[in-house]
Amino acid sequence: MLEDWVSIGYLVSAIFFIFGLKNLGHPRTAPRGNQYGMFGMAIAVVTTIIDMNFFPEGIVGWTLIGSGILIGSLIGYTMAVKVEMTGMPEMVALFNGFGGAASALVALSETWKWIETTSPEPGLGATVAIVAAGLSALVGWMTLTGSLLAMYKLKGGVELFGKWWIRTPTWGPVWLNPVKALLFVSVLALIYLSIEDPTNTDYIWAIIGISCVLGIILVLPIGGADMPVVVSLLNSLSGIAAAFTGFIINNSVLIVAGSLVGASGLILTFIMCKAMNRQLIDVLFKSFGGSEKQELTRTKVGSDADEVAMMADGAQKIIIVPGYGMAVSQCQHQVKEFADLMQDKFDTEVKYAIHPVAGRMPGHMNVLLAEANVPYEQLIEMDEINPEFPQCDMAIVIGANDTCNPAARTGEGPLAGMPIIDADQARTVVIIKRSLSVGYAGVDNDLFYEDKTMMLFGDGKAMMTDLNNAIKDL
Ligand code: TAP
Repeated sequence: MLEDWVSIGYLVSAIFFIFGLKNLGHPRTAPRGNQYGMFGMAIAVVTTIIDMNFFPEGIVGWTLIGSGILIGSLIGYTMAVKVEMTGMPEMVALFNGFGGAASALVALSETWKWIETTSPEPGLGATVAIVAAGLSALVGWMTLTGSLLAMYKLKGGVELFGKWWIRTPTWGPVWLNPVKALLFVSVLALIYLSIEDPTNTDYIWAIIGISCVLGIILVLPIGGADMPVVVSLLNSLSGIAAAFTGFIINNSVLIVAGSLVGASGLILTFIMCKAMNRQLIDVLFKSFGGSEKQELTRTKVGSDADEVAMMADGAQKIIIVPGYGMAVSQCQHQVKEFADLMQDKFDTEVKYAIHPVAGRMPGHMNVLLAEANVPYEQLIEMDEINPEFPQCDMAIVIGANDTCNPAARTGEGPLAGMPIIDADQARTVVIIKRSLSVGYAGVDNDLFYEDKTMMLFGDGKAMMTDLNNAIKDL
């Protein structure tokens, strides 16, 4: 009877997960999707506790479980409340890593208990258990170290650890690929040896150690514009690790939830690859994401808010190109105010050009602009908006750099081949940023130096406020 209720509980939570994912597909329904996911997880946790039959002898007691839930919830709540919008990508990377580690630790403890209590002999049962445990350890520990490294790269690892950290392309492809392959084959060999000798726990420690190293060297040479692919891949791996662990502890909801995360993360990875015009295999093994930051020798005279306001006065069509700098300066409300002013005062058509990897996480610009109540219809995807730039009087680039850098159209450098927003095709380009410095991929941007480009140097929020005031004064 109890088993039936447990199965029903897991089924209901899996249904909530599926509906949650479906709703996450659109910004308007995403908050509901999150709520479905949370509700599904709450049902899964309660069902698991019931499944443990209220902790019979030998299973950890209420005190330990309760303390774990309390401490974990407090840490998670504090982090979620404190995190700045600009810190969200790092937090997502950290959570991916924790997800992988949690799955790997559960798999490790179960395997350990199984070896201690049953002293297993080689055979079919042992083979299935060890393959699942080995793969869970490989994916879980690799996800942990890879995600921690990705987190520091997103945080600005270059500054923290010196230039070699992500921008040393030469040593990536030359000898790293054979090492990656060798380590991967070593893990498979160790799993095989474990099947032959299931009670030898040294193999488990070796698998864990090698998997940690593999996570680091997989992510280490990837940088610059290829980071979005890595982050979504790590997200997928954290789900796959959970699914493997679900097999080990025979928990159906963990298998379902892990598979959902793994599959959706993989879909996102391929969407990111398409957006960057990359093959996944190239990102992982060619390591063309890094390069030395170029030293800037050219100069450009800046413009001011009054001059830009006067230019905007005559514009019939303006396209706003937001990027990471808008997230840093949190100027989305001022950007919306600017669009409203232009529409109300001059009847100007205003649209927003959204690059799929603008900012530091998928959908970053959509989230910020939705927060400022920009209508979804005005947020236009790159492929759709690009043909409109030649008829556009003014492109206003706010804190975007790599995603509108014409260097991507050349066949060289970290941005090579990445589709960009064609802001340079507009009749006039206004760029709001604090300096002539490079973007995340470290590539100088020729767009800054074109005759039709007006640079508004300063913090995004301050500049947008000045521009709005100048327009009100016209
Ligand atoms: P970036 O190329 O990162 O450039 C952002 C620009 O914003 C910088 O050049 C910076 O110039 C400016 N900025 C920073 N703070 C500012 C402020 N307070 N006010 C005004 N400007 C400010 O931006 P992007 O075009 O959005 O490109 C995103 C990059 O990140 C791509 O290379 C992408 O591959 C990578 N990436 C994306 C993701 C995802 S999933 N979206 C994840 C990881 C990496 P100043 O310092 O001169 O102001």
